[in-house]
Amino acid sequence: MFETLSSQPKDKILALMAAYREDERDTKVDLGVGVYKDASGNTPVMRAVKAAEKRLVKEQSTKAYTGLAGDPAFSDAMIGLVLDGAVDRDRIAAVATPGGTGAIRQALELIKLAAPGATVWLSDPTWPNHPSIIKYLGMKTKTYRYFDAETRNVDYVGMLTDLGAVLPGDVVLLHGCCHNPTGANLTMPQWKGVIELLKEKSAVPFVDIAYQGFGDGLAEDGAATRLVASSFDNVLIAASCSKNFGVYRERTGILMSVAKDTAQRDLAQQNMSFLNRQNFSFPPDHGARVVTTILNDPELRADWEAELEEVRLGMLELRKQLAAELRRLSNSDRFDFLAEHRGMFSLLGTTPDLVEKLRADHGIYMVGDSRMNIAGLNKKTIPVLAKAIIDAGI
Ligand code: LMR
Repeated sequence: MFETLSSQPKDKILALMAAYREDERDTKVDLGVGVYKDASGNTPVMRAVKAAEKRLVKEQSTKAYTGLAGDPAFSDAMIGLVLDGAVDRDRIAAVATPGGTGAIRQALELIKLAAPGATVWLSDPTWPNHPSIIKYLGMKTKTYRYFDAETRNVDYVGMLTDLGAVLPGDVVLLHGCCHNPTGANLTMPQWKGVIELLKEKSAVPFVDIAYQGFGDGLAEDGAATRLVASSFDNVLIAASCSKNFGVYRERTGILMSVAKDTAQRDLAQQNMSFLNRQNFSFPPDHGARVVTTILNDPELRADWEAELEEVRLGMLELRKQLAAELRRLSNSDRFDFLAEHRGMFSLLGTTPDLVEKLRADHGIYMVGDSRMNIAGLNKKTIPVLAKAIIDAGI
């Protein structure tokens, strides 16, 4: 049977992770996969996560199955974190999922059930797994312009122009904050413009929010998602806890569906639970329970928020230092966008050939589209990267 298989395209982010591991140079710099690293290159377990895990080990009395939708307390806590009362609770259906990717997959399957003919619109560029899953599911997809290669900012006019072709019932995927891979984000007035257009087009927004707390702050980063959620009858939201709780391998995420009324909410909830059952049955619980413990305990929550804020400010500082070094070396402000971008990533905006040159000559690993994980830098590697960028003629 297996002789009929053909090999699948490699995920470019995961392939880069493997190539980095194999590189024997001790000067190598990993700006690849979106995992937070501290100044010494470690991805620590957050303090509040450790404390919550200790508490769970001590107090948890069973490992029996949860419900198909996961622990309702996790849904409540995450709806609070992401939506903060922006939408009536009785309009929101929610299921726990294996990570943010699981939430995206379940959302797409729900769209397939509810609106099989809908086109899913993706930003160009976007996280490569978005188009990959859509293609795998055989769904229709189109892209809208997002990134202006000249300014390295959002191509807002291009975005609105392309979204002008959205048909009623089409789904538009938006990054709630910290756009992956570009790092360029819509301003609040621009979000309002996009919302107005999508309402006019009777589109369904689908928000992917995987980096809440990594951009301008926990509340600030949720603001656009809340505005979208409160502006439409139907909204899909895929949220990840991988990054902001640092629980990558626990696979902790949630799909929320905002429905028009309670009856439709119930229908969405029943279908989402059904989809969980078909795809993996019960969602992973450990990470979800850790997150719930943290969010519901004032002391743990305050400590988590404080550590998350340290992480956010640390990345902002790295951005500023890199932009300053490049300003010095290039005698120009053409890299200032790096300090203006938000989140873990910035798209440098150069060719795959030059990205490859940085890897071959300097052991600097970034994704082929020139996405850099800013958290992979430190005081020592910033001057190395800046010099390599200038020497390569970028
Ligand atoms: C990334 O974009 O690097 C992360 O979301 C990790 C992944 O699964 O690709």
